[in-house]
Amino acid sequence: MQQDIAKILFTEEEIAKKVEALGSQITKDYQGKDLVLVGILKGANIFVGDLMRKIRIPITLDFMAVSSYGFSTESSGIVKIIKDLEHSIEGKDVLIVEDLIDTGLTLNYIYENLLSRKPKSLKICTLLDKPDRRKVNIKVDYKGFDVPDEFIIGYGIDYAEKYRNLPYVAILKREVYEK
Ligand code: PRP
Repeated sequence: MQQDIAKILFTEEEIAKKVEALGSQITKDYQGKDLVLVGILKGANIFVGDLMRKIRIPITLDFMAVSSYGFSTESSGIVKIIKDLEHSIEGKDVLIVEDLIDTGLTLNYIYENLLSRKPKSLKICTLLDKPDRRKVNIKVDYKGFDVPDEFIIGYGIDYAEKYRNLPYVAILKREVYEK
């Protein structure tokens, strides 16, 4: 896998520090609230697992699995729900946890879908943001890092289902996905 990496953007240590800071902020902001973390599979799997352990108030955890990329490198805008939430979010304070916002099309769909289920509040937390690529306006409430317009892998994020297990965030070499 190593030979496919163009550059490491954020090391394990840098990510851990950022996740800790996000967890502290969320802990403060959600005191006394009924917080539901909604992790968006598969990419956010690692992030939500690390983040929830830095949140020092009671939470519940649920997951949604969606897919918009398939095996392509471009978002199609067509979002497919593969797995829905298990529990109702009506009246709850919901925080969507994503690994990466690119065009924003996936999250825009998820946000509108969850909003229609009448949560008390609905906010967005993403580890990574690629603002240059945005096609729809998204209000990001908690953000880890901005990333350049390159193909990002690692810490949960894949290219054709590979590289999710890299402990850091990196840029994939162009030749890997252009061949
Ligand atoms: C990735 C990522 C976001 C989405 C961002 O998921 O986890 O959900 O793409 O792209 P967008 O802002 O352009 O819509 P993907 O569809 O690759 O599924 P995965 O999380 O299972 O890898």
